Amino acid sequence: MQPSWAASIVDISKNTLFAAPQTVDSTPFFLFLQHIELAPKMTNLPKPSAKPKNPNFSSGPCSKRPGYDVNNLDISTLGRSHRSSIGKTALGRACSDTAEILGLPEGYRVGVVPASDTGAVEMILWSVLGARPVDIFAWEAFGRDWLTDVTKQLKLDNVNTYTADYGHLPDLTQANPDHDTIFTWNGTTAGVKVENADWISDDRTGLTICDATSAVFAMDMPWEKLDVITYSWQKVLGGEGAHGMLILSPRAVERLESYTPTWPMPKIFRMTKGGKLVEGIFRGETINTPSMLCVADYLDALDWVRSIGGLPASIAKSSDNLAVIKGFVASRPWAHFFAQNPAQISNTSVCLTLDLNEDQVKQIVKLLDAEAVAFDIGAYRDAPAGLRIWCGATVEKSDLEALLPWLDWAYHEVSA
Ligand SMILES: Cc1ncc(COP(=O)(O)O)c(C=O)c1O
Repeated sequence: MQPSWAASIVDISKNTLFAAPQTVDSTPFFLFLQHIELAPKMTNLPKPSAKPKNPNFSSGPCSKRPGYDVNNLDISTLGRSHRSSIGKTALGRACSDTAEILGLPEGYRVGVVPASDTGAVEMILWSVLGARPVDIFAWEAFGRDWLTDVTKQLKLDNVNTYTADYGHLPDLTQANPDHDTIFTWNGTTAGVKVENADWISDDRTGLTICDATSAVFAMDMPWEKLDVITYSWQKVLGGEGAHGMLILSPRAVERLESYTPTWPMPKIFRMTKGGKLVEGIFRGETINTPSMLCVADYLDALDWVRSIGGLPASIAKSSDNLAVIKGFVASRPWAHFFAQNPAQISNTSVCLTLDLNEDQVKQIVKLLDAEAVAFDIGAYRDAPAGLRIWCGATVEKSDLEALLPWLDWAYHEVSA
């Protein structure tokens, strides 16, 4: 009898017709059959055969660029002082090539600073805030971190807070042009981006401080509307974590030179000396010792952006990637963008919700990881359950296309 029972169960799991066992003590078995027949029929899909060539879809550190080979890095700076001529030249190039490729306006400074994007954001918050009232906009984890800095660490009095839940943007038109405004261009953990900067006044007297770590090199940034822009290397360029990039408009420099905060300033945040900007920081003379290996890696990434056609090409790559996911979501009733307004869907950190419970979503992430078709695509730990698929410039469209049948497969496996 045992083999007959086992055969029936295997048949059921494949959703094929099953025959009643020949010899059976019938009562419990037929109760079992009735139970199974009442359950909805499963439609498991066959496992796709082709896998993405590169399964790295993490939202940071993000995939290395196509064709990346660590052996190709120019490591002639390694083991040398970062203040040697060769070291300063490499660091200076990190600043000047960035300005050139991004097409920054005349007078904008670019500096390499410690502690990645967080370092860049916090050194500017600590350096310029307190001079004016502050308007702060937050709609996901990192924007909320800056809100904590402003209200709980710096304990500023005159702060207007505008927040929104995951999937939405706060009302940015509330920004007062005479206040300092803090916001994130692309909410990496929500997949919600700012569509434009029409809400920022050209005649503002306050500073606009923009955390743009998941946006720079993938989105059109209206530089003239932004006084402070920060980002890190490991996002759109697939560089290494470690250092932040701090871009300052002339108005931001003016504030740094005319205002001294009341609180103590750690050395790592100090950008002025005797009331003047330390210009060297924006020519590659870093505040403290950087990783020259990370710098070499960053320069390789910048050369790659140039080689594919510069900023417009890297923006286009990311937009084309989003189009692939949009096509998928449009024909899957069970998948939805987190971003509620289609114009605000991020083209880098693409966040999806699925008509599944949290455990089932986790199972999908695990299944795809186990099959080595997608690594690190679960939603950010503080965000609602879902998938987050990085679509920045270093991700190949063909890899996303190869991933999608696997999403279908995993969805059906888990919901069945
Ligand atoms: C919008 C945003 N801001 C800040 C950070 C923190 O960046 P980092 O780890 O480079 O300091 C992240 C990281 O994902 C981010 O997405």
